[in-house]
Amino acid sequence: MARGLLIVFEGCDRSGKTTQSTRLVQALNGAGVAAKLLKFPDRTTAIGTMIDGYLQQKTRLSDQAIHLLFSANRWEAMDQMRADLESGTTLVVDRYAFSGVAFSAAKKMDPRWCRAPDVGLAMPDRVFFLDIHPDDAAKRAGFGGEIYERREMQIEVRAQFSSMMDKSWSVVDALQDADEIHGQILALANEALERHRADPAPIGRLWT
Ligand code: TMP
Repeated sequence: MARGLLIVFEGCDRSGKTTQSTRLVQALNGAGVAAKLLKFPDRTTAIGTMIDGYLQQKTRLSDQAIHLLFSANRWEAMDQMRADLESGTTLVVDRYAFSGVAFSAAKKMDPRWCRAPDVGLAMPDRVFFLDIHPDDAAKRAGFGGEIYERREMQIEVRAQFSSMMDKSWSVVDALQDADEIHGQILALANEALERHRADPAPIGRLWT
């Protein structure tokens, strides 16, 4: 049996990642494809609780410490993620190491230093980037509550994401109607699954 695919959603805050990643998993499951939704940060773990306190501005941490906690939060999930992928489950992940680098580098941290702790994570097979200008994102409900939801920060984050894109990324216009976005992403995901079934490749290692 072919392993599952690792599909990642990235984008600025309020770009619709949670809605679209949820819908993709539902559509895949509905079509008989084993798929599971994950989200980073996973705020349910001990490390995730520390991250949550920082994001909600209840606790303060140095830029380096919070960066490493975000990375540790991915590493603590990695054994289970690899096991799921190997057993044929496709994982759809709402944010991953690209958010880790984009948000920290937007704070003027060295991108090479930022990448280092995530080197060797499972490599995403596809990345869907939901692109929205921060001025449009700011009009959406819920924007502004957490530490990074500031216009200047989001503009810099978007630029950082752009500098990381390669051929495994698809940029999707996040201002479109939600059904339209879902249709485009589902078609791209199905294409990736078909290609993988015809020509399966082992799980790659990120940034190695
Ligand atoms: P969320 O809104 O998707 O739960 O993400 C919480 C915030 O954390 C969001 O502003 C992006 C930021 N973030 C990082 O700074 N580094 C990371 O590694 C991740 C996954 C998220």
